[in-house]
Amino acid sequence: MKSLWLATAPPVPADPFAPGASYDTVVVGAGLTGLTTALLLARRGQKVAVLEARRAGAVTTGNTTAKVSLLQGLQLSSISSHQGADGVRGYVEANRAGRDWLLEFCREHGVDHDLRTAYTYANSDKGRQSLEKELSAATGAGLPVRMTRETELPFEVSGALELPGQAQIHPLQALAALAAEFRAGGGTLVQGVRVTGAGTAAGERIRVITSSGSVSAQHLVLATGIPILDRGGYFARLLPLRSYAAAHPVQGEVPQGMYLSVDAPSRSLRTARVDGTDYLISGGNGHAVGRHPHPQALVDDLADWTVRHFPVSAPAYAWSAQDYEPAAGLPYVGKVPFGNGSILAATGFNKWGMTNAAAAALGMSDAITPAAVEHPARNWYQPKLSSRDVLSAVRDNAEVGLAMLAGWASSMAGTDESAPPEGQGKVVRRNLKPVGICTVDGDVSRVSAVCPHLGGVLGWNDAEASWDCPLHGSRFAADGTLLEGPAVRGLDRA
Ligand SMILES: Cc1cc2nc3c(=O)[nH]c(=O)nc-3n(C[C@H](O)[C@H](O)[C@H](O)COP(=O)(O)OP(=O)(O)OC[C@H]3O[C@@H](n4cnc5c(N)ncnc54)[C@H](O)[C@@H]3O)c2cc1C
Ligand code: FES
Repeated sequence: MKSLWLATAPPVPADPFAPGASYDTVVVGAGLTGLTTALLLARRGQKVAVLEARRAGAVTTGNTTAKVSLLQGLQLSSISSHQGADGVRGYVEANRAGRDWLLEFCREHGVDHDLRTAYTYANSDKGRQSLEKELSAATGAGLPVRMTRETELPFEVSGALELPGQAQIHPLQALAALAAEFRAGGGTLVQGVRVTGAGTAAGERIRVITSSGSVSAQHLVLATGIPILDRGGYFARLLPLRSYAAAHPVQGEVPQGMYLSVDAPSRSLRTARVDGTDYLISGGNGHAVGRHPHPQALVDDLADWTVRHFPVSAPAYAWSAQDYEPAAGLPYVGKVPFGNGSILAATGFNKWGMTNAAAAALGMSDAITPAAVEHPARNWYQPKLSSRDVLSAVRDNAEVGLAMLAGWASSMAGTDESAPPEGQGKVVRRNLKPVGICTVDGDVSRVSAVCPHLGGVLGWNDAEASWDCPLHGSRFAADGTLLEGPAVRGLDRA
Protein backbone atom coordinates (compact mmCIF):
# COMPACT_ATOMS: atom_id res chain seq x y z
CA MET A 1 0.00 0.00 0.00
CA LYS A 2 1.33 3.46 -0.87
CA SER A 3 -0.23 6.84 -0.25
CA LEU A 4 -1.05 9.34 -2.97
CA TRP A 5 1.32 11.72 -1.15
CA LEU A 6 4.32 9.37 -1.03
CA ALA A 7 3.76 8.35 -4.66
CA THR A 8 3.89 11.99 -5.79
CA ALA A 9 6.29 13.49 -3.21
CA PRO A 10 8.99 15.96 -4.26
CA PRO A 11 12.45 14.61 -3.42
CA VAL A 12 14.01 15.64 -0.09
CA PRO A 13 17.83 15.54 -0.26
CA ALA A 14 19.78 14.17 2.72
CA ASP A 15 22.98 15.40 4.37
CA PRO A 16 25.74 13.09 5.58
CA PHE A 17 25.80 12.05 9.23
CA ALA A 18 28.87 13.39 11.07
CA PRO A 19 29.69 11.22 14.10
CA GLY A 20 31.02 13.33 16.98
CA ALA A 21 29.43 16.56 15.69
CA SER A 22 28.01 19.03 18.16
CA TYR A 23 24.70 20.93 17.74
CA ASP A 24 22.57 23.38 19.66
CA THR A 25 19.53 21.14 19.10
CA VAL A 26 19.05 17.68 17.63
CA VAL A 27 15.52 16.95 16.42
CA VAL A 28 14.61 13.27 16.07
CA GLY A 29 12.11 12.63 13.28
CA ALA A 30 11.48 14.39 9.96
CA GLY A 31 7.70 14.49 9.95
CA LEU A 32 5.73 17.73 10.11
CA THR A 33 6.50 18.24 13.82
CA GLY A 34 10.25 17.67 13.52
CA LEU A 35 10.87 19.70 10.38
CA THR A 36 8.73 22.64 11.52
CA THR A 37 10.50 22.73 14.90
CA ALA A 38 13.91 22.46 13.22
CA LEU A 39 13.15 25.28 10.80
CA LEU A 40 11.89 27.61 13.54
CA LEU A 41 15.04 26.98 15.60
CA ALA A 42 17.32 27.44 12.58
CA ARG A 43 15.58 30.73 11.77
CA ARG A 44 16.61 31.88 15.27
CA GLY A 45 20.25 31.15 14.53
CA GLN A 46 20.53 27.71 16.15
CA LYS A 47 22.79 25.00 14.75
CA VAL A 48 20.26 22.18 14.27
CA ALA A 49 20.42 18.59 13.00
CA VAL A 50 17.35 16.51 12.18
CA LEU A 51 18.00 12.76 12.46
CA GLU A 52 15.42 10.66 10.61
CA ALA A 53 15.41 6.86 10.77
CA ARG A 54 13.70 6.38 7.40
CA ARG A 55 12.85 9.15 4.88
CA ALA A 56 11.22 12.51 5.56
CA GLY A 57 7.45 11.95 5.81
CA ALA A 58 7.76 8.14 5.71
CA VAL A 59 5.46 7.53 8.67
CA THR A 60 2.28 9.44 9.62
CA THR A 61 2.89 12.74 7.81
CA GLY A 62 3.20 10.90 4.48
CA ASN A 63 0.08 8.82 5.15
CA THR A 64 -2.32 11.37 6.58
CA THR A 65 -5.39 12.90 4.95
CA ALA A 66 -3.95 16.40 5.56
CA LYS A 67 -7.01 18.50 6.40
CA VAL A 68 -5.81 21.67 8.08
CA SER A 69 -8.87 22.43 10.15
CA LEU A 70 -10.06 23.81 13.47
CA LEU A 71 -13.28 21.80 13.12
CA GLN A 72 -11.95 18.43 14.26
CA GLY A 73 -14.74 15.88 14.60
CA LEU A 74 -15.67 15.65 18.31
CA GLN A 75 -12.23 16.72 19.51
CA LEU A 76 -13.32 19.89 21.33
CA SER A 77 -16.17 18.33 23.32
CA SER A 78 -13.81 15.49 24.23
CA ILE A 79 -11.18 17.98 25.47
CA SER A 80 -13.91 19.83 27.35
CA SER A 81 -14.86 16.64 29.19
CA HIS A 82 -11.21 16.11 30.22
CA GLN A 83 -9.88 19.64 30.71
CA GLY A 84 -12.91 21.96 30.85
CA ALA A 85 -13.63 25.11 28.85
CA ASP A 86 -10.17 26.62 29.55
CA GLY A 87 -8.53 23.53 28.07
CA VAL A 88 -10.65 23.92 24.92
CA ARG A 89 -9.84 27.64 24.61
CA GLY A 90 -6.08 27.01 24.96
CA TYR A 91 -6.25 24.18 22.43
CA VAL A 92 -8.16 26.24 19.88
CA GLU A 93 -5.84 29.22 20.35
CA ALA A 94 -2.74 27.08 19.83
CA ASN A 95 -4.26 25.20 16.87
CA ARG A 96 -5.34 28.46 15.26
CA ALA A 97 -1.76 29.70 15.55
CA GLY A 98 -0.51 26.37 14.11
CA ARG A 99 -2.98 26.46 11.21
CA ASP A 100 -2.22 30.09 10.40
CA TRP A 101 1.54 29.53 10.55
CA LEU A 102 1.35 26.49 8.24
CA LEU A 103 -0.93 28.13 5.68
CA GLU A 104 1.18 31.31 5.68
CA PHE A 105 4.27 29.12 5.12
CA CYS A 106 2.48 27.40 2.20
CA ARG A 107 1.54 30.79 0.69
CA GLU A 108 5.09 32.14 1.02
CA HIS A 109 6.66 29.01 -0.50
CA GLY A 110 4.18 28.39 -3.32
CA VAL A 111 2.86 25.15 -1.76
CA ASP A 112 -0.64 24.34 -3.12
CA HIS A 113 -3.40 24.56 -0.55
CA ASP A 114 -7.15 24.75 -1.13
CA LEU A 115 -9.44 26.66 1.18
CA ARG A 116 -12.49 24.54 1.99
CA THR A 117 -15.47 24.39 4.33
CA ALA A 118 -15.07 21.67 6.96
CA TYR A 119 -18.07 19.58 8.04
CA THR A 120 -18.59 17.14 10.90
CA TYR A 121 -21.78 15.19 10.22
CA ALA A 122 -24.03 12.66 11.93
CA ASN A 123 -26.39 10.01 10.59
CA SER A 124 -28.14 9.09 13.84
CA ASP A 125 -29.98 10.92 16.64
CA LYS A 126 -27.20 9.99 19.05
CA GLY A 127 -24.67 11.42 16.61
CA ARG A 128 -26.72 14.62 16.38
CA GLN A 129 -26.57 14.95 20.19
CA SER A 130 -22.79 14.62 20.01
CA LEU A 131 -22.74 17.38 17.41
CA GLU A 132 -24.70 19.64 19.76
CA LYS A 133 -22.07 19.18 22.48
CA GLU A 134 -19.32 19.87 19.95
CA LEU A 135 -21.15 23.00 18.78
CA SER A 136 -21.31 24.26 22.33
CA ALA A 137 -17.59 23.58 22.96
CA ALA A 138 -16.61 25.20 19.65
CA THR A 139 -18.70 28.35 20.03
CA GLY A 140 -17.56 28.64 23.67
CA ALA A 141 -14.00 28.83 22.33
CA GLY A 142 -14.98 31.51 19.81
CA LEU A 143 -15.17 29.39 16.65
CA PRO A 144 -17.92 30.49 14.20
CA VAL A 145 -19.28 26.95 13.80
CA ARG A 146 -22.95 26.49 12.87
CA MET A 147 -25.36 23.56 12.68
CA THR A 148 -26.96 22.72 9.33
CA ARG A 149 -28.63 19.83 7.50
CA GLU A 150 -27.53 21.06 4.08
CA THR A 151 -24.50 19.16 2.80
CA GLU A 152 -23.21 17.94 -0.57
CA LEU A 153 -23.41 14.32 0.60
CA PRO A 154 -25.56 11.91 -1.44
CA PHE A 155 -27.41 10.72 1.70
CA GLU A 156 -29.50 12.27 4.48
CA VAL A 157 -27.71 13.46 7.58
CA SER A 158 -29.28 14.05 11.00
CA GLY A 159 -27.12 17.14 11.35
CA ALA A 160 -23.80 18.66 10.35
CA LEU A 161 -21.46 21.25 11.85
CA GLU A 162 -19.92 23.62 9.36
CA LEU A 163 -16.83 25.84 9.56
CA PRO A 164 -15.75 27.72 6.42
CA GLY A 165 -12.22 28.90 5.68
CA GLN A 166 -10.28 25.71 6.56
CA ALA A 167 -7.80 24.07 4.17
CA GLN A 168 -6.43 20.90 2.60
CA ILE A 169 -2.82 20.40 1.50
CA HIS A 170 -0.43 17.90 -0.08
CA PRO A 171 1.51 17.21 3.13
CA LEU A 172 4.72 16.15 1.42
CA GLN A 173 4.88 19.26 -0.75
CA ALA A 174 4.74 21.25 2.50
CA LEU A 175 7.36 18.96 4.08
CA ALA A 176 9.72 19.32 1.10
CA ALA A 177 9.43 23.13 1.32
CA LEU A 178 10.18 23.03 5.07
CA ALA A 179 13.22 20.83 4.45
CA ALA A 180 14.45 23.06 1.61
CA GLU A 181 14.34 26.25 3.68
CA PHE A 182 15.86 24.46 6.68
CA ARG A 183 18.81 23.12 4.65
CA ALA A 184 19.27 26.38 2.73
CA GLY A 185 19.65 28.12 6.12
CA GLY A 186 22.47 25.77 7.16
CA GLY A 187 20.43 23.03 8.88
CA THR A 188 21.51 19.38 8.63
CA LEU A 189 18.90 16.80 7.60
CA VAL A 190 20.16 13.24 7.98
CA GLN A 191 17.96 10.41 6.69
CA GLY A 192 18.44 6.69 7.32
CA VAL A 193 19.97 7.08 10.80
CA ARG A 194 18.00 5.88 13.82
CA VAL A 195 18.37 7.37 17.30
CA THR A 196 18.58 4.54 19.82
CA GLY A 197 19.38 6.31 23.09
CA ALA A 198 20.40 9.49 24.85
CA GLY A 199 22.76 10.10 27.75
CA THR A 200 21.96 13.02 30.05
CA ALA A 201 23.87 14.13 33.12
CA ALA A 202 23.04 17.29 35.08
CA GLY A 203 24.80 20.32 33.61
CA GLU A 204 26.20 18.39 30.66
CA ARG A 205 25.34 18.30 26.98
CA ILE A 206 23.17 15.42 25.77
CA ARG A 207 24.91 12.53 24.07
CA VAL A 208 22.58 11.37 21.29
CA ILE A 209 23.26 7.73 20.39
CA THR A 210 22.35 6.54 16.90
CA SER A 211 22.69 3.53 14.64
CA SER A 212 25.72 5.27 13.04
CA GLY A 213 27.56 6.76 16.04
CA SER A 214 26.81 9.56 18.47
CA VAL A 215 26.55 13.36 18.40
CA SER A 216 26.01 15.91 21.17
CA ALA A 217 23.46 18.67 21.71
CA GLN A 218 22.21 21.17 24.24
CA HIS A 219 18.59 20.21 23.53
CA LEU A 220 16.96 17.09 22.11
CA VAL A 221 13.48 17.15 20.56
CA LEU A 222 11.64 13.83 20.17
CA ALA A 223 9.32 14.38 17.20
CA THR A 224 8.90 10.65 16.60
CA GLY A 225 5.11 10.25 16.74
CA ILE A 226 5.01 8.26 19.98
CA PRO A 227 8.16 9.30 21.88
CA ILE A 228 11.11 6.92 21.84
CA LEU A 229 13.36 6.42 24.91
CA ASP A 230 10.39 5.73 27.27
CA ARG A 231 11.21 8.70 29.53
CA GLY A 232 7.91 9.94 30.91
CA GLY A 233 6.16 6.63 30.15
CA TYR A 234 4.14 8.25 27.37
CA PHE A 235 3.46 4.82 25.86
CA ALA A 236 1.21 4.10 28.88
CA ARG A 237 -0.83 7.28 28.34
CA LEU A 238 -1.40 6.97 24.60
CA LEU A 239 -3.65 4.67 22.59
CA PRO A 240 -2.18 3.95 19.12
CA LEU A 241 -4.98 4.01 16.55
CA ARG A 242 -4.55 2.90 12.96
CA SER A 243 -6.90 3.83 10.15
CA TYR A 244 -7.21 3.61 6.40
CA ALA A 245 -7.44 5.92 3.40
CA ALA A 246 -7.89 5.57 -0.36
CA ALA A 247 -7.64 8.00 -3.30
CA HIS A 248 -10.25 7.36 -6.02
CA PRO A 249 -10.01 9.06 -9.44
CA VAL A 250 -13.10 11.22 -9.86
CA GLN A 251 -15.60 10.49 -12.69
CA GLY A 252 -18.31 13.08 -11.94
CA GLU A 253 -19.32 15.67 -9.35
CA VAL A 254 -18.10 14.93 -5.82
CA PRO A 255 -18.40 16.96 -2.60
CA GLN A 256 -15.87 19.77 -2.40
CA GLY A 257 -16.07 20.25 1.38
CA MET A 258 -13.95 18.29 3.87
CA TYR A 259 -16.23 15.84 5.72
CA LEU A 260 -15.92 13.69 8.83
CA SER A 261 -18.65 11.49 10.31
CA VAL A 262 -19.20 11.01 14.03
CA ASP A 263 -21.17 7.76 13.82
CA ALA A 264 -19.39 4.44 13.43
CA PRO A 265 -17.86 3.39 11.15
CA SER A 266 -16.01 6.69 10.83
CA ARG A 267 -15.83 8.21 7.34
CA SER A 268 -13.64 11.07 6.17
CA LEU A 269 -13.74 12.78 2.76
CA ARG A 270 -11.71 15.41 0.94
CA THR A 271 -10.65 16.05 -2.63
CA ALA A 272 -7.16 16.46 -4.09
CA ARG A 273 -5.88 17.48 -7.51
CA VAL A 274 -2.42 15.98 -8.07
CA ASP A 275 -0.51 16.04 -11.39
CA GLY A 276 -3.71 16.94 -13.28
CA THR A 277 -5.86 14.13 -11.82
CA ASP A 278 -8.79 14.80 -9.47
CA TYR A 279 -9.19 12.38 -6.58
CA LEU A 280 -11.76 11.84 -3.88
CA ILE A 281 -9.92 10.69 -0.76
CA SER A 282 -11.95 8.65 1.70
CA GLY A 283 -10.75 7.52 5.10
CA GLY A 284 -11.91 5.66 8.18
CA ASN A 285 -12.38 2.18 9.72
CA GLY A 286 -9.91 2.92 12.56
CA HIS A 287 -8.96 0.47 15.31
CA ALA A 288 -6.28 -0.01 17.97
CA VAL A 289 -3.00 -1.01 16.31
CA GLY A 290 -2.43 -4.75 16.08
CA ARG A 291 -5.85 -5.65 17.46
CA HIS A 292 -7.80 -6.32 14.23
CA PRO A 293 -7.56 -9.84 12.81
CA HIS A 294 -7.99 -8.90 9.14
CA PRO A 295 -7.10 -5.27 8.24
CA GLN A 296 -7.40 -5.97 4.49
CA ALA A 297 -11.17 -6.37 4.99
CA LEU A 298 -11.25 -2.79 6.35
CA VAL A 299 -9.41 -1.48 3.28
CA ASP A 300 -11.87 -3.28 0.98
CA ASP A 301 -14.89 -2.09 2.99
CA LEU A 302 -13.77 1.56 2.75
CA ALA A 303 -13.24 1.31 -1.02
CA ASP A 304 -16.67 -0.37 -1.48
CA TRP A 305 -18.42 2.35 0.52
CA THR A 306 -16.78 5.11 -1.51
CA VAL A 307 -17.52 3.57 -4.92
CA ARG A 308 -21.12 2.88 -3.86
CA HIS A 309 -21.82 6.50 -2.87
CA PHE A 310 -19.79 8.65 -5.27
CA PRO A 311 -19.00 8.79 -9.02
CA VAL A 312 -15.42 7.52 -8.67
CA SER A 313 -13.43 4.57 -9.96
CA ALA A 314 -11.56 1.96 -7.92
CA PRO A 315 -8.83 3.43 -5.72
CA ALA A 316 -5.58 4.33 -7.47
CA TYR A 317 -3.88 4.47 -4.05
CA ALA A 318 -4.78 2.97 -0.68
CA TRP A 319 -2.85 3.42 2.51
CA SER A 320 -2.90 3.35 6.26
CA ALA A 321 -1.35 5.20 9.19
CA GLN A 322 -1.56 5.57 12.93
CA ASP A 323 -1.74 8.39 15.41
CA TYR A 324 -1.97 8.47 19.19
CA GLU A 325 -4.99 9.30 21.37
CA PRO A 326 -3.89 10.92 24.64
CA ALA A 327 -5.48 9.81 27.94
CA ALA A 328 -5.71 13.43 29.10
CA GLY A 329 -7.61 14.59 25.98
CA LEU A 330 -4.89 17.12 25.06
CA PRO A 331 -1.58 16.42 23.30
CA TYR A 332 1.59 16.21 25.40
CA VAL A 333 4.11 18.81 24.26
CA GLY A 334 7.14 20.15 26.07
CA LYS A 335 9.88 19.02 28.46
CA VAL A 336 9.81 15.31 29.27
CA PRO A 337 10.22 14.05 32.84
CA PHE A 338 13.76 12.75 33.62
CA GLY A 339 15.32 14.73 30.78
CA ASN A 340 17.14 17.38 32.88
CA GLY A 341 14.87 19.97 31.27
CA SER A 342 16.66 19.63 27.95
CA ILE A 343 14.67 16.84 26.25
CA LEU A 344 11.33 17.81 24.73
CA ALA A 345 8.66 15.72 23.02
CA ALA A 346 5.43 16.27 21.10
CA THR A 347 2.80 13.54 20.82
CA GLY A 348 -0.87 12.63 21.18
CA PHE A 349 -2.25 14.62 18.22
CA ASN A 350 -5.18 12.20 17.88
CA LYS A 351 -5.30 12.48 14.06
CA TRP A 352 -5.23 16.29 14.10
CA GLY A 353 -1.50 16.80 13.67
CA MET A 354 -1.56 19.22 10.73
CA THR A 355 -2.49 22.07 13.09
CA ASN A 356 -1.06 20.48 16.25
CA ALA A 357 2.38 19.77 14.76
CA ALA A 358 2.85 23.40 13.81
CA ALA A 359 1.43 24.55 17.18
CA ALA A 360 3.77 22.19 19.03
CA ALA A 361 6.73 23.39 16.95
CA LEU A 362 5.91 27.01 17.77
CA GLY A 363 5.62 26.16 21.47
CA MET A 364 8.77 24.00 21.66
CA SER A 365 10.93 26.44 19.71
CA ASP A 366 9.86 29.16 22.19
CA ALA A 367 10.71 26.89 25.09
CA ILE A 368 14.23 26.31 23.68
CA THR A 369 14.98 29.85 22.49
CA PRO A 370 12.48 32.19 24.16
CA ALA A 371 11.07 34.75 21.75
CA ALA A 372 10.28 38.39 22.61
CA VAL A 373 6.60 37.52 22.43
CA GLU A 374 5.74 34.11 23.95
CA HIS A 375 3.72 31.84 21.74
CA PRO A 376 0.28 30.86 23.09
CA ALA A 377 1.16 27.19 22.67
CA ARG A 378 4.17 27.44 24.97
CA ASN A 379 2.60 26.60 28.31
CA TRP A 380 -0.69 24.89 27.77
CA TYR A 381 0.43 21.54 26.38
CA GLN A 382 1.32 19.77 29.65
CA PRO A 383 -2.16 18.51 30.53
CA LYS A 384 -2.83 17.11 33.97
CA LEU A 385 -4.56 13.73 34.18
CA SER A 386 -7.89 14.01 36.02
CA SER A 387 -8.98 11.04 38.13
CA ARG A 388 -11.26 10.08 35.21
CA ASP A 389 -8.28 10.20 32.83
CA VAL A 390 -6.27 8.03 35.21
CA LEU A 391 -9.13 5.52 35.23
CA SER A 392 -9.30 5.54 31.45
CA ALA A 393 -5.50 5.11 31.22
CA VAL A 394 -5.80 2.22 33.68
CA ARG A 395 -8.52 0.69 31.47
CA ASP A 396 -6.38 1.13 28.34
CA ASN A 397 -3.41 -0.45 30.11
CA ALA A 398 -5.59 -3.30 31.34
CA GLU A 399 -6.53 -3.88 27.68
CA VAL A 400 -2.81 -3.76 26.87
CA GLY A 401 -2.23 -6.39 29.59
CA LEU A 402 -5.00 -8.56 28.14
CA ALA A 403 -3.56 -8.17 24.63
CA MET A 404 -0.19 -9.27 26.07
CA LEU A 405 -1.70 -12.39 27.68
CA ALA A 406 -3.82 -13.21 24.62
CA GLY A 407 -0.80 -12.84 22.33
CA TRP A 408 1.37 -15.16 24.41
CA ALA A 409 -1.45 -17.69 24.83
CA SER A 410 -2.34 -17.86 21.13
CA SER A 411 1.33 -18.02 20.11
CA MET A 412 1.68 -21.19 22.15
CA ALA A 413 -1.13 -22.92 20.22
CA GLY A 414 0.67 -24.10 17.07
CA THR A 415 4.06 -25.47 16.10
CA ASP A 416 3.60 -25.94 12.33
CA GLU A 417 6.47 -23.98 10.79
CA SER A 418 5.46 -24.57 7.17
CA ALA A 419 5.29 -21.43 5.00
CA PRO A 420 1.84 -19.77 4.90
CA PRO A 421 0.21 -18.81 1.56
CA GLU A 422 1.41 -15.66 -0.26
CA GLY A 423 0.61 -12.47 1.69
CA GLN A 424 -0.16 -14.33 4.91
CA GLY A 425 1.64 -14.64 8.25
CA LYS A 426 1.22 -16.70 11.41
CA VAL A 427 2.78 -16.94 14.86
CA VAL A 428 3.87 -20.37 16.12
CA ARG A 429 5.73 -21.74 19.14
CA ARG A 430 9.35 -22.82 18.94
CA ASN A 431 11.12 -23.73 22.23
CA LEU A 432 8.38 -21.83 24.12
CA LYS A 433 9.10 -18.66 22.13
CA PRO A 434 6.77 -17.03 19.57
CA VAL A 435 8.12 -17.09 16.02
CA GLY A 436 6.48 -15.14 13.18
CA ILE A 437 6.48 -16.78 9.74
CA CYS A 438 5.22 -15.01 6.63
CA THR A 439 5.37 -15.23 2.85
CA VAL A 440 5.68 -11.98 0.90
CA ASP A 441 6.48 -11.84 -2.84
CA GLY A 442 7.48 -15.51 -2.63
CA ASP A 443 10.04 -14.91 0.15
CA VAL A 444 9.48 -16.72 3.43
CA SER A 445 10.72 -14.84 6.54
CA ARG A 446 11.01 -16.21 10.06
CA VAL A 447 11.45 -13.64 12.82
CA SER A 448 11.06 -13.45 16.57
CA ALA A 449 7.44 -12.41 17.14
CA VAL A 450 8.32 -10.70 20.44
CA CYS A 451 8.31 -6.92 20.31
CA PRO A 452 11.71 -5.54 21.41
CA HIS A 453 9.98 -2.62 23.14
CA LEU A 454 8.33 -4.35 26.12
CA GLY A 455 7.68 -7.91 24.98
CA GLY A 456 4.27 -7.82 23.27
CA VAL A 457 3.51 -10.69 20.90
CA LEU A 458 3.12 -9.37 17.37
CA GLY A 459 0.24 -10.08 15.02
CA TRP A 460 0.23 -10.25 11.22
CA ASN A 461 -1.27 -7.30 9.33
CA ASP A 462 -2.48 -8.70 6.01
CA ALA A 463 -3.16 -5.26 4.49
CA GLU A 464 0.38 -3.98 4.93
CA ALA A 465 2.38 -7.21 5.19
CA SER A 466 3.75 -6.15 8.57
CA TRP A 467 4.09 -7.43 12.13
CA ASP A 468 2.13 -5.10 14.44
CA CYS A 469 2.35 -4.87 18.23
CA PRO A 470 -1.03 -4.72 20.02
CA LEU A 471 0.53 -3.11 23.11
CA HIS A 472 1.97 0.29 22.14
CA GLY A 473 1.87 0.20 18.34
CA SER A 474 5.40 -0.66 17.17
CA ARG A 475 5.35 -2.10 13.65
CA PHE A 476 7.88 -4.14 11.70
CA ALA A 477 8.26 -5.14 8.04
CA ALA A 478 7.92 -8.80 7.05
CA ASP A 479 11.69 -9.29 7.44
CA GLY A 480 11.68 -7.69 10.91
CA THR A 481 12.89 -4.19 9.92
CA LEU A 482 11.49 -1.58 12.33
CA LEU A 483 8.85 0.66 10.70
CA GLU A 484 7.49 2.81 13.54
CA GLY A 485 6.53 2.98 17.20
CA PRO A 486 8.37 3.32 20.50
CA ALA A 487 10.74 0.40 19.73
CA VAL A 488 14.22 1.43 18.61
CA ARG A 489 15.38 -1.80 17.00
CA GLY A 490 14.03 -4.41 14.62
CA LEU A 491 13.11 -8.05 15.23
CA ASP A 492 15.67 -10.81 15.64
CA ARG A 493 15.77 -13.38 12.81
CA ALA A 494 14.46 -16.73 13.98
C1 LIG B 1 -5.11 8.02 8.91
C2 LIG B 1 -4.75 9.37 9.45
C3 LIG B 1 -5.31 10.50 8.90
C4 LIG B 1 -4.98 11.75 9.43
N1 LIG B 1 -5.56 12.85 8.89
C5 LIG B 1 -5.30 14.05 9.43
C6 LIG B 1 -5.94 15.22 8.94
O1 LIG B 1 -6.73 15.16 8.00
N2 LIG B 1 -5.67 16.40 9.53
C7 LIG B 1 -4.81 16.49 10.57
O2 LIG B 1 -4.63 17.58 11.12
N3 LIG B 1 -4.14 15.40 11.03
C8 LIG B 1 -4.37 14.20 10.48
N4 LIG B 1 -3.74 13.11 10.96
C9 LIG B 1 -2.70 13.26 11.98
C10 LIG B 1 -1.38 13.77 11.41
O3 LIG B 1 -1.14 13.19 10.15
C11 LIG B 1 -0.25 13.42 12.37
O4 LIG B 1 -0.61 13.83 13.67
C12 LIG B 1 1.05 14.08 11.99
O5 LIG B 1 1.38 13.76 10.66
C13 LIG B 1 2.15 13.64 12.94
O6 LIG B 1 3.36 14.20 12.48
P1 LIG B 1 4.68 13.91 13.30
O7 LIG B 1 5.76 14.67 12.62
O8 LIG B 1 4.46 14.18 14.74
O9 LIG B 1 4.90 12.34 13.19
P2 LIG B 1 5.45 11.48 11.94
O10 LIG B 1 5.03 12.04 10.65
O11 LIG B 1 5.08 10.08 12.22
O12 LIG B 1 7.01 11.66 12.03
C14 LIG B 1 7.80 10.99 12.99
C15 LIG B 1 9.13 10.65 12.33
O13 LIG B 1 10.04 10.21 13.34
C16 LIG B 1 10.84 9.20 12.76
N5 LIG B 1 11.40 8.39 13.85
C17 LIG B 1 10.74 7.60 14.72
N6 LIG B 1 11.60 7.01 15.57
C18 LIG B 1 12.85 7.45 15.24
C19 LIG B 1 14.15 7.22 15.75
N7 LIG B 1 14.36 6.38 16.77
N8 LIG B 1 15.20 7.84 15.15
C20 LIG B 1 15.02 8.70 14.10
N9 LIG B 1 13.78 8.94 13.57
C21 LIG B 1 12.72 8.33 14.13
C22 LIG B 1 9.88 8.42 11.89
O14 LIG B 1 10.56 7.64 10.92
C23 LIG B 1 9.01 9.53 11.32
O15 LIG B 1 9.47 9.97 10.05
C24 LIG B 1 -4.05 11.85 10.48
C25 LIG B 1 -3.49 10.71 11.02
C26 LIG B 1 -3.84 9.47 10.52
C27 LIG B 1 -3.23 8.27 11.15
S1 FES C 1 5.26 -1.42 21.34
FE1 FES C 1 5.49 -1.68 23.47
S2 FES C 1 5.62 -3.83 23.66
FE2 FES C 1 5.42 -3.55 21.53
